[in-house]
Amino acid sequence: HYEITQRETTAEILPGVRTPLWTYEGTFPGPTIESRRGRPVTVTHHNTLPVPTVVHLHGGRTAPESDGYPTDLVLPAHWPQTTHAAHDAGAHTMHDPRAAVTRLSRDYTFPLDQRPTLLWYHDHRMDFTAPAIWRGLAGLHIIRDDAEDDLGLPSGARELPLMITDRAFSADGTLTYPSLDPTLRLRPGVRDPYLAGVLGDVILVNGAPWPVHETDTARHRLRVLNASNARHYELEAVTDTGRRLPLVQIGADQGLLAAPVTHHALPVAPAERYDVVVDFTGLPVGSRVKLLNRLGTGRTRDVMAFHITRATTDDSRVPPVLSTDLPSWRPSDAAVTREFSFRAGRTHGGHGWLIGGLPFDPARSDVTVRLGDVEIWRLIADVHHPVHLHLVGFRVLSRNGRPPLPHDAGLKDTVSLRPGEAVEIITRFDGYRGRYLFHCHNAEHEDMAMMANLEIV
Ligand code: C2O
Ligand code: CU
Ligand code: CU
Repeated sequence: HYEITQRETTAEILPGVRTPLWTYEGTFPGPTIESRRGRPVTVTHHNTLPVPTVVHLHGGRTAPESDGYPTDLVLPAHWPQTTHAAHDAGAHTMHDPRAAVTRLSRDYTFPLDQRPTLLWYHDHRMDFTAPAIWRGLAGLHIIRDDAEDDLGLPSGARELPLMITDRAFSADGTLTYPSLDPTLRLRPGVRDPYLAGVLGDVILVNGAPWPVHETDTARHRLRVLNASNARHYELEAVTDTGRRLPLVQIGADQGLLAAPVTHHALPVAPAERYDVVVDFTGLPVGSRVKLLNRLGTGRTRDVMAFHITRATTDDSRVPPVLSTDLPSWRPSDAAVTREFSFRAGRTHGGHGWLIGGLPFDPARSDVTVRLGDVEIWRLIADVHHPVHLHLVGFRVLSRNGRPPLPHDAGLKDTVSLRPGEAVEIITRFDGYRGRYLFHCHNAEHEDMAMMANLEIV
């Protein structure tokens, strides 16, 4: 059982400057929770922020009551409890007859009866998720089990969860969300420059700008999460002598692969997780390895660096077989194939992002699936959209009718649709009945209505 107080605080992100943040427990990222598979955890969240919040455990197999539906609010402690105030704050609860009772603090219960992996928890309030995550409402949750512990993978100080984000800062060094910054107001008639999402020009890893990690000549397990609102990365590890180190992928969003997959550069879309091993064993003491983003320019090319300061012996390994419990759904198992387009379009508020031509509406049921059914979903994109399903993990079947890419391996909960692409995924909707979501995880697209209801009956 954990207690987390959501609170406003100031913290030093850029050296020497304190900036206001919204946090879980006063830190950004929030506290990392480590759990054992199948041992349920309850997290009580207390909201002392000035706005309502919603907590979602991304990648968790969670009952609908604890999954953080966007109108299932935890109200702030000093919140005027009137219909008007709630409405003005964008709480669509009032329109939604099915919305749960709101409260100032609440328990979220997570069974964690699922493959071990790196999950993350973050805010999920309807229409306000992007600025809330940007201000700091994100943290890690790791599930482990004995089978994974026994593989001999790099562990302890050589297992590094890396929450990678980009953020923008104003001239005085305080964190700013560009689309809400009054000094950057739009002129009338100018197209919203944030339609593609909000980017920052400072790269943070676990809340620190471009960190340098001092370590030893050993294999390291990097558990990468792209927690950026909209930025895509293509990571590579390059030594100071210009050598590119292989990134050996051992896991995806939903845990270990069947066997390792070696990449030279690894694309990571918002909300995706990649578990990779990088080998520093042959490097001379004193060398540096940079983790770079090939898609960045100037200072957004740099992500972080490793400084190899000590020689060591290393008995870790990457076994050729990592797991044998991956689901093997075949297309012939599918009860139905559905198609969803992810495109820009007109909404009541002007321009927005739509699924199947419609903006998110909590009162509408978009797709109803039967508990236990295997389905194929064909997801079609206009521009880049990282698409996420709650509750279930899925496998990527094809991209534009061709086999999936090497980094599509394993069990995923978020898949990056590239511009103009049609991606087929297959999954089995099991676990719980109830109302869940699927949406684009470009956080601004999500807030601009690119989300839909998934009912499991
Ligand atoms: Cu990471 Cu519905 O979210
Ligand atoms: Cu999720
Ligand atoms: Cu999108």
